[in-house]
Amino acid sequence: MKPNAETSGVKLDKYGKTSPGQRFSAHEGWPLCPGASPRRLASLRSEPTTGTVSRELTMTATTAADLGGPTLPQVRRLVTEVPGPRSRALAARRSAAVSAAVGSLMPVYAVAAGGGVVLDVDGNSFIDLGSGIAVTTVGNSAPAVVEAVREQVAAFTHTCFMITPYDGYVAVAEELNAITPGRHEKRSALFNSGAEAVENAVKVARSATRRPAVAVFEHAYHGRTSLTMAMTAKNMPYKNGFGPFAPEIYRAPMS
Ligand SMILES: Cc1ncc(COP(=O)(O)O)c(C=O)c1O
Repeated sequence: MKPNAETSGVKLDKYGKTSPGQRFSAHEGWPLCPGASPRRLASLRSEPTTGTVSRELTMTATTAADLGGPTLPQVRRLVTEVPGPRSRALAARRSAAVSAAVGSLMPVYAVAAGGGVVLDVDGNSFIDLGSGIAVTTVGNSAPAVVEAVREQVAAFTHTCFMITPYDGYVAVAEELNAITPGRHEKRSALFNSGAEAVENAVKVARSATRRPAVAVFEHAYHGRTSLTMAMTAKNMPYKNGFGPFAPEIYRAPMS
């Protein structure tokens, strides 16, 4: 008998989230990474099970948040077929609720991630080669990042810098100015997404030069908004059927 979702033990609420106090089971053999906290180590215990898996390590997680971060065992481990039953149930809910225009590469649904591993809702662990499209370069849920976010949202969640400014924005701009190449005087502006940043770079350049044309590299990806879609080279899946496109885009060979 294969281990199944019942032995992986994750219960989800109607939002697909784990609920406080639920028990999260992982199968025996997860090596614990060096940074595992005493609290988490103490919460691990062995108990007999009835499936083919002779013994389970069961940890009591207050929330899925307890599992995420660098103490998540850094192993690849499958405990169900892929996708497992909980991921398939979420996929069914997704197809009824989420626009078909949004695709996902992985058929599994994440419940926690830590370091370079993603844990799915069925208890399977995967090496996180996607790494949030390379934005989790310090590992998923790195404690310093978690703490900074926690402090910020506890202080205030949003004011809109253009209405009421705050120091964090200024500090990020200072840091960007310091670490980007060149010793000239610099100023930075922050935007919600890569595409919005690219669009604003074009606006800044057009305003400064009074020249409308934009040069992009062949094969480059710039985003999915109207202008950045025109700047992006690849037709499928980014542009096909979505024209007309913005004019004055010129492609330069990359090499
Ligand atoms: C080079 C580059 N430019 C622009 C973008 C668009 O960023 P976003 O998806 O945040 O709009 C991406 C996103 O992957 C990117 O890799």
